[in-house]
Amino acid sequence: MTPAPLVNKIRIWDLPIRLFHWTFAGSLTAALAIGFLVDDERPLFQFHALFGLVAAFSLVVRLVLGLVGSKYNRFAAFPVRPGEVVGYFCEVLTGKARRYLAHNPGGAVVTLLMFAVVPLSVATGAGWLGEAGEELHEGLAIALLVLIGAHLAGLVWHTLRHREPIALSMMTGNKAGPEAASLRSAQPLWAAAILVAGAAWVWALFASHDPTSGTVKVPLLGVVIQVAEVRLR
Ligand code: HEM
Ligand code: HEM
Repeated sequence: MTPAPLVNKIRIWDLPIRLFHWTFAGSLTAALAIGFLVDDERPLFQFHALFGLVAAFSLVVRLVLGLVGSKYNRFAAFPVRPGEVVGYFCEVLTGKARRYLAHNPGGAVVTLLMFAVVPLSVATGAGWLGEAGEELHEGLAIALLVLIGAHLAGLVWHTLRHREPIALSMMTGNKAGPEAASLRSAQPLWAAAILVAGAAWVWALFASHDPTSGTVKVPLLGVVIQVAEVRLR
């Protein structure tokens, strides 16, 4: 008999992680789209670096959530020990992959790789790693595209393999599972505090953008970054 489809009903993702997810996904999509599609001499091109900086800021918030956030957000809960990752991919290849309540090893590895590539993209884009770094910038953007593709393919695969509408879980926060595993709170107050502080930071970043000199001043750090193409030439 075919098993019944899984119904998403217990809370796994709180509001702070969903806020992070959509800010990170949205800002990276904007940075990549402008970077690849807009001519680097047009004023709009400068915004690709600003969106890259927004992604990096959201990542800093995510690192804090990974240390002190809800149990499924913590890096300590990521199933990324080498034996577990290799074992999981063997299970995938033999069609026996078990279902994880939060991240599975494949998703967790892709997540950590994205978290490593974004700071490198900012550092190479800003010219902090010298000329060799500047050569790397486009390659890192392609690596990000590959990781995003793997992430989306993983979601489709999970949906088919486990008959669970997993994509909905980053919108509603819910997945299928035993009641006892549910988070008690969606952390609305923390989410509101992060939203207000994050919006103020992003506003200050965009307000500091000077299109004529092609610079921005990073709020809180005070570092001035060249965001126009001239920097790399
Ligand atoms: C540029 C596009 C995207 C990026 C960069 C991205 C990035 C990420 C990251 C970093 C995570 C890990 C969350 C964490 O623990 O921090 C994640 C998880 C997740 N994302 Fe995305 N995402 C993107 C698009 C999407 C889309 C379009 C959907 C579906 C509507 C989606 C649904 C999910 C879901 C359901 C999870 C949790 C997976 C699990 O259960 O382990 N993502 N994504
Ligand atoms: C996650 C963050 C970022 C992503 C995903 C990203 C992505 C891209 C992409 C796709 C291109 C076009 C590559 C090409 O077709 O040649 C590009 C070019 C460029 N990026 Fe970024 N970028 C990011 C952050 C930054 C930052 C923070 C800066 C500056 C502070 C920056 C500065 C530049 C410059 C100057 C170019 C032009 C390079 C050239 O045409 O040779 N980027 N970036």
